[in-house]
Amino acid sequence: MTKLGVLASGRGSNFQAIINAINAGTLKASLELLIVDNPSAYAVERAKKHGIPHLYMNPKDFGTQDGFFAGIADGLKSRGVELVVLAGFMRIVRKPLLDAFPMRVMNIHPALLPSFPGLHGQRQAVDYGVRISGCTVHFVDEGMDTGPVIIQAAVPVMPDDTEESLSERILGLEHKIFPEAIRLFSEGRLEVSGRKVRIINASKAVHGVIVNPPLS
Ligand code: GAR
Repeated sequence: MTKLGVLASGRGSNFQAIINAINAGTLKASLELLIVDNPSAYAVERAKKHGIPHLYMNPKDFGTQDGFFAGIADGLKSRGVELVVLAGFMRIVRKPLLDAFPMRVMNIHPALLPSFPGLHGQRQAVDYGVRISGCTVHFVDEGMDTGPVIIQAAVPVMPDDTEESLSERILGLEHKIFPEAIRLFSEGRLEVSGRKVRIINASKAVHGVIVNPPLS
């Protein structure tokens, strides 16, 4: 049973998807602590509803970003957290947290990386005019959305899509692949070698790739 710590900044629908997967028994993990960097993050309401310990940490209380992330690492370590999950956490993670949890921090990003990193991945995809976008779960390194890719899921981009409509289509898949990536981790099935993540015992057809709708 993997002990999870979650960092979030806002709505927390991905956090909710993880809660739901645990409650449904498809993900054998426990939620030890939610940390938010925004006191009005709705994710906190979700934690309260499900009896999950939660903490607001204000970066201003720490002086530096490194100090803030060292404080987050301490909070997570004190709860015995084994895997840190970024569920809509809108900050670049700094070294003190990565050093405390090497290849143990996972992020979900609403685009097919390395395309459209950073903020508003969905708007970037619409503005660029790509035909396919999607979402990516990856391990976090010191770059912005640059760490080794674990799972990607693709969706079509329609001619009349807006940032909102594309975001909604992508979000449906985020809620599937994030709990799935955590499940693979908790089953010890992710092997990282440089930039490559091998999924142990994955079927050849589905090696961390989901296409929706399926290609015919
Ligand atoms: C999600 O779409 C997630 O992929 C994105 O923020 C949203 C959070 O939604 N994350 C990023 O853009 C990180 N760069 P949620 O709070 O409902 O999970």
